[in-house]
Amino acid sequence: MGDKVWRDLVAVSALQQAWVTRVDLGARPLAVYDTPTGIYVSLALCNHGGADLCDGYFDGHVIECPLHQGAFDVRDGRPVDAPATRAMKTFPARVVDGVVQIEI
Ligand code: FES
Repeated sequence: MGDKVWRDLVAVSALQQAWVTRVDLGARPLAVYDTPTGIYVSLALCNHGGADLCDGYFDGHVIECPLHQGAFDVRDGRPVDAPATRAMKTFPARVVDGVVQIEI
């Protein structure tokens, strides 16, 4: 009970390259980031005020929220710019046969 499993999320070919792509897993809105060091996944809604991070600006490993410009490092979720102060929720991600999977 409660064990995490790897679940298929999206084909790598469906991602916007070097950018963030919104993918909903059931009712859970997720943000999938294509970066120079691989693919990372977080909850899509900003933990400061609920904005959709997928509408923000993405550069390298940092997603900037479109509402108040708070920013997070997508590799571990840590906040890197105010007003974001809490780490965002991230999920372990891997690619198998061209498909992004997350452990959830
Ligand atoms: S809602 Fe994202 S920084 Fe405020």
